[in-house]
Amino acid sequence: MKLFDVYPINPIEIVKGNGSYVYDANGQEYLDLYGGHAVISIGHSHPHYIQRITDQLNTLGFYSNSVEIPLQQQLAELLGNISGKKDYQLFLCNSGAEANENALKLASFYNGRKKVIAFKGAFHGRTSLAVSATDNPKIIAPVNETDHVIFLPFNDEEALEQAFAEQGETISSVIIEGIQGVGGIRVANHRFLQKIRDLTTAYDVIFIADSVQCGYGRSGKFYSHDHAGIQADIYSMAKGMGNGFPIGAISISPKIKPWFGELGTTFGGNHLACAAALAVLETMEKEQLIENAAQMGDYLIQELKGFDHIKEIRGEGLMIGIELPEELNQVKKELLFKNHIFTGEAKPNVIRLLPALNVGKKEADRFLEALEERIKGF
Ligand SMILES: Cc1ncc(COP(=O)(O)O)c(C=O)c1O
Repeated sequence: MKLFDVYPINPIEIVKGNGSYVYDANGQEYLDLYGGHAVISIGHSHPHYIQRITDQLNTLGFYSNSVEIPLQQQLAELLGNISGKKDYQLFLCNSGAEANENALKLASFYNGRKKVIAFKGAFHGRTSLAVSATDNPKIIAPVNETDHVIFLPFNDEEALEQAFAEQGETISSVIIEGIQGVGGIRVANHRFLQKIRDLTTAYDVIFIADSVQCGYGRSGKFYSHDHAGIQADIYSMAKGMGNGFPIGAISISPKIKPWFGELGTTFGGNHLACAAALAVLETMEKEQLIENAAQMGDYLIQELKGFDHIKEIRGEGLMIGIELPEELNQVKKELLFKNHIFTGEAKPNVIRLLPALNVGKKEADRFLEALEERIKGF
């Protein structure tokens, strides 16, 4: 049997990881500023993470949601504290798409409406409704096509106001990434997020803050939407939550009341996933990783602003987009194969930095030097 061939891959086999470094099968070291797509939050093979998961596995790996799982309550409490949402409710699932799917569905159960406002450049996942709210017709299968989703231009207050004036009573939810990831590291204006909050409140529409990529401390605040000083009704999260162990969740406002059977999952909230997520939050708290993300992010962004030949630097904290001109489209590849540094990308020519939240100055400087080397002479 062969694999279903859906990913363009680099010819590198990563066999080991440690902190912000990974190693291939030949023993070559790489600096990892990509974190397997924003997933590695506390660094590869963190000792506390290994210990917590190993202990749990030696005790109990899985039992279903039909019994009490105190680890879930511990996770809810810690997440409520760290995210500043103590009165919210936690629903655990397994991935980012699933988190958004449940968020959109829950919103519709709440207000009985069908329309969803999403934005140009958005990526919300590949399940049915999440992909319909994703601005990429290529990955929307005919069976996922729906006229429930209205796409508006990102950061356009007027278009938003007009949509609400015309259809406000039929809109169930607005879903927005605080910083668009796949869309090329585009930060939602704080005023725009505040406007969404005002309008969704006025029309009893659910505000869904997709924090799958930009959340969990990455932006220098727990949720990137926090920079705008607003409270969303539902926050979806996944990537950094388990540091590689598959887990997703939605944090739900107390105004949304659950009923039995409304949402459900077999694997969501299992013992091992909770142990992984607890290890991540405990480490984030102990090592002050949100503060580190803010500081290292500021440092990188300031330094990058001094570079020639960069079209634009975008982002907040450790979610940084470096837009390069067309003639520098080989830089990402050269960083990987010549400097042995993993970075992410976005179309057309954006280098995405999504390192572990405990990345240090040494790693940042190594990247800055490598980038300088790659672009000098142009
Ligand atoms: C903002 C955002 N939402 C949702 C998803 C989907 O997450 P998953 O791949 O875990 O389903 C992603 C994945 O890249 C994402 O970046």
